Amino acid sequence: MKKLTVLSIVAATLLLVGCNESSTGAEAKASAEKKVEAPAAEAKTEATEAKKCGEGKCGGDKKSAATEAKEAAATAVEKTKEAVVEKAAEVKDAVAEKAAAATAAVAATATAAVDKTKEAASAVAEKATEAKDAAKDAVAGATGGADGKALFAKCSSCHGADGKTKALGKSAVIAGQPAADLETKIKGYKAGTRNTAGMGALMKGQVGSYSDEDIKAVAAYISGL
Ligand code: HEC
Repeated sequence: MKKLTVLSIVAATLLLVGCNESSTGAEAKASAEKKVEAPAAEAKTEATEAKKCGEGKCGGDKKSAATEAKEAAATAVEKTKEAVVEKAAEVKDAVAEKAAAATAAVAATATAAVDKTKEAASAVAEKATEAKDAAKDAVAGATGGADGKALFAKCSSCHGADGKTKALGKSAVIAGQPAADLETKIKGYKAGTRNTAGMGALMKGQVGSYSDEDIKAVAAYISGL
């Protein structure tokens, strides 16, 4: 019994020395491994002792010493199991943490990519709108904002929608004439100075309210028919 106690103290001392070893790097891992190793070593020592006692090589009450050693070994095994379970839980948590971090990182990258794409798309849309506006301005600048086609609507009843009808059987065909010539002729009607078939007054009534921009726009439209 005395011998067993002494051996236990020695074993405990050895374990303490082992635990006090300076642990550098992977501290968590090392300590977790020790948690497993220590009870295992303890169990081995106790088991060896129990075996010795069983063979009659230890003093005192052999039977109870053997039983005690057996119990101690069982306790050590239990401790080892606990340590292993604890370590497994630690590893599981660490893996879960890493996975969560990785998922978050991927989500953040994906969100950033989507935002960049959205930004690019809206920039393109903005540029397209700008270009459209610029084109509109260019057309309006050339005709002063007047719409030649709309201005020709009321002329089509006599000159034809395609501008190829001799108005009231008297006028020349106006479609395809040079825009500059048409402009001069229309301005002549507006001023009351043009009258080629005796219908100059009628034409004055048609274009009297047209501005210079309107005349330019409608002349350009007729020229293109
Ligand atoms: C009611 C019928 C009628 C309408 C509507 C009419 N015209 Fe005329 N147009 C005439 C007649 C008739 C003449 C010939 C006038 C003359 O005696 O010089 C003429 C002549 C012209 C000529 C000169 C052709 C040439 O080469 O000598 C032009 C250009 C013209 N019209 C443009 C227009 C435009 C533009 C409009 C619309 C804003 C219009 N007309 C609306 C009947 C019409």
